[in-house]
Amino acid sequence: MNDTPSLSDSARDSLMTAAREAASAAYAPYSRFHVGAALLMEDGSVVTGANVENASYGLSLCAETVAVAKILSGTRLAVQAVAVTGGAPGEAGQGARVTPCGRCRQVLNEIAQVGGTDPVIWCDGAEGVLELRLSQLLPHAFGPANLL
Ligand code: THU
Repeated sequence: MNDTPSLSDSARDSLMTAAREAASAAYAPYSRFHVGAALLMEDGSVVTGANVENASYGLSLCAETVAVAKILSGTRLAVQAVAVTGGAPGEAGQGARVTPCGRCRQVLNEIAQVGGTDPVIWCDGAEGVLELRLSQLLPHAFGPANLL
């Protein structure tokens, strides 16, 4: 598991901008909490996701999970960084900092293991962007190696 190389402030800012744009496309009529996630891949491409809720609330999908499903249904590129934001409609990043939920940490661990990286996770909020590694958010993770 490799730490991805350190990334520039401008890389962080542009990935967060992509996440905020993704949040604006969220389908979240029940919580009215619009989340956006953007993943920076090893080839420089950016894949985004937004939360997709359901009238059967428990079936709702988080933004990070949507983005990971988009990627793993098409490629096996390594992920370098993840930006996550959320908030009221049109106000992503302006409230309490958003960190990936527990289930999304596990989902992110899968794509991290596929690419062999420990991606940076940038978490947006009014008090600034918090930078963590996935391994800090999900220590002692269960993953593919456990099934060997
Ligand atoms: N949500 C995400 O999309 N990602 C997270 O990491 C935390 C929560 C969504 C789920 C639900 O649609 C809304 O935010 C409120 O919990």
